[in-house]
Amino acid sequence: MRISFSKIAIPTQGVVVIPVAEAAKKKATAKTSRAAGPQLGRTATLIDARTNGAVHRAIAAAAFSGKREKALNILAPGNGRLPRIVIVGLGDPASFDAVAAERVGAVIYDAVAGEPSATVVLEDIGADKTGSGALAASIAGGAQLKSYRFDKYRTKEDKDAKPKLKTLVIQCAKPTDATKAHRDVSAVVDGAFFTRDLVNEPANILYPESFAARAKELEGDGISVEVLAEPALRRLGMGALLGVGQGSARPSRVLIMRWNGARNKSEAPVALVGKGVCFDTGGISLKPPGGMWDMKWDMGGAGVVTGVMRTLARRKAKANVVGLCGLVENMPDGKAQRPGDVVTSMSGQTIEVQNTDAEGRLVLADVLWYAQQRFKPRAIVDLATLTGAIIAALSEFYAGLFSNDDDLANKLTAAGTAVGERLWRFPMGDDYDRDLKSLIADMKNIGGPRAGSITAAQFLKRFIKDTPWAHLDIAGVVWSEKGTALAAPGSTSYGVRLLNRFIADNFEK
Ligand code: BES
Ligand code: MN
Ligand code: ZN
Repeated sequence: MRISFSKIAIPTQGVVVIPVAEAAKKKATAKTSRAAGPQLGRTATLIDARTNGAVHRAIAAAAFSGKREKALNILAPGNGRLPRIVIVGLGDPASFDAVAAERVGAVIYDAVAGEPSATVVLEDIGADKTGSGALAASIAGGAQLKSYRFDKYRTKEDKDAKPKLKTLVIQCAKPTDATKAHRDVSAVVDGAFFTRDLVNEPANILYPESFAARAKELEGDGISVEVLAEPALRRLGMGALLGVGQGSARPSRVLIMRWNGARNKSEAPVALVGKGVCFDTGGISLKPPGGMWDMKWDMGGAGVVTGVMRTLARRKAKANVVGLCGLVENMPDGKAQRPGDVVTSMSGQTIEVQNTDAEGRLVLADVLWYAQQRFKPRAIVDLATLTGAIIAALSEFYAGLFSNDDDLANKLTAAGTAVGERLWRFPMGDDYDRDLKSLIADMKNIGGPRAGSITAAQFLKRFIKDTPWAHLDIAGVVWSEKGTALAAPGSTSYGVRLLNRFIADNFEK
């Protein structure tokens, strides 16, 4: 889909979208003749006149109030040449921010997806908020995010069911500013799409080697990509990660992606670490078959880290960031590790593997250690579909946040709020850590039946030295069966916008 911004002018052809702000509640009850509906802007009023008042009559007939994300279709209005006008509610102008704009963009996309082209007449609302160009760019971004489809395996789709939209023109007060703001938005969309492509892919196609091969594409964006194969991992002593992968016919990999955009190239980087379990059967502690296919997206953390690297590179972020992914497949097999096995992690600490299904933490233990040893990062953030318990606690509405550093936790929470990818922080501490005591090794890889997401985080913390660290348990948010406001059913790309914002707001001075 091609996006462009232009000055406001009355469109003479194609589908026209007119966003309108919600009328203030008090005004709506005033006794003026046309007070019940939202106010039309100058250009919308002219369009209304040219269609013999079709716009205001439709608004009145439908009692359309301009409520956010509501749409009203007017077919073949008046005697004009326009085939259709769509009125879209922006809601209260006072709360119309970037998150709201993206969601409205997604509603606009859905309303016009069946047309080859559409024009949005985005007149100033309220306190001239859309005038800056940034909100127009956000509306475009929302439309783009909503346009994503993963249809490479459909060979017989009905042509009429496919979206046709090729060009979306957004008219606004400052098209030059909007075009500029949209460059960064496009980088975010590119990163989110890369993440979605990776996460939606089935595990027979995307396994450690093929995942790493796809990440090599990032070299085209100016990222240096390095892939460690098993001999190197053995030399490094990554016994915890290798133990998880040893039952699979697909060899394990560690993927390292570096973007050095800071003025000072030798400045310590921020490290982003992703759990990349390309398929999680549970191993010998085999999962029940119902819904096991879900575990193809157990590489969601790695998918986000890989996608956000593309975003950072494409918008030339002025920060040094290294992304690391532990890529494995957890399978039951004659060579698979057994419950009760003891493995030695790269840190030297030994782990009794009481449950082979608690594999993500084993993978992360070694990659977190390696990230600190090699890169001495100023902060480290890991993302993992780590526990079912986080879904029980938060459902799909928040990801869990665990951290040894209040400042880092606050920065991540703020970034999440700003982009609508919300985080909720959980407590940590010795009371929980005690659950990890093992009779024969330094620790076991599972806690008791309670607070499973916290004991998992305590396990990770044992592999953190004194680096500010945060762990995001994203098991509930990376995938949506029904789809979300901005994503089709499947991968949501949760985390790409959050991490991008976190880097932009805190590491690019
Ligand atoms: N990948 C799963 C967690 C998960 C479950 C993600 C459901 C998304 C949806 C993880 O490897 C796992 O199996 N965790 C176990 C840990 C338990 C054995 C301590 C869990 O949550 O049941
Ligand atoms: Mn598991
Ligand atoms: Zn898993």
